[in-house]
Amino acid sequence: GSRIAELVTSNLREIPDFPEPGVLFRDITPLLANGPAFRELIDLLARRYDGRVDAVAGLESRGFILAAPLATTLGVGMLTIRKAGKLPGPVIGVDYALEYGTARMELRPDSVAAGDRVLVIDDVLATGGTAGASVRLLRECGAEVVAVSVLLELEALGGRARLEGLTVESAVSF
Ligand code: PRP
Ligand code: HPA
Repeated sequence: GSRIAELVTSNLREIPDFPEPGVLFRDITPLLANGPAFRELIDLLARRYDGRVDAVAGLESRGFILAAPLATTLGVGMLTIRKAGKLPGPVIGVDYALEYGTARMELRPDSVAAGDRVLVIDDVLATGGTAGASVRLLRECGAEVVAVSVLLELEALGGRARLEGLTVESAVSF
């Protein structure tokens, strides 16, 4: 709800020209550094998903920061969906397009059971490439993706369209 949005917007830092000229980078580290705000955010997210998920999947690396406390608060396990070459095998992978070139996310199929209800969480939804690849990995394992939840959605980059048919929940949109 709006309290989540308020916590995010009031603890956000906007950095012009990072990581390259012309990009306005939205930095969540002030939120992480604000102990009471971070705790309240996690508690509110946990309330929203309580009883509805069997696992929380964090997307490397900033998604991990949110997924771990959310999973422990919910009392469910956390899955790590990682960039190529980081997880020991066996892994499955999905490639996705970047502006220049491609990237790949990987998951160990033995970390999720068929029928598991999984919440995908990350800090930012931009083009949706990272989240889209992650959803494909989870579905390949027979998981049910309950929602993709992010703190920030950069609407102009079209991530929501790329995640068509999924529940996408963002605290704040730009
Ligand atoms: C950022 C962000 C998301 C992704 C969003 O991660 O944390 O995971 O990009 O972009 P997309 O919707 O266009 O895929 P980044 O790759 O910068 O990695 P990091 O979390 O390790 O910094
Ligand atoms: N902030 C943080 N992460 C991002 C952004 C941003 O503006 N765009 C893509 N990933």
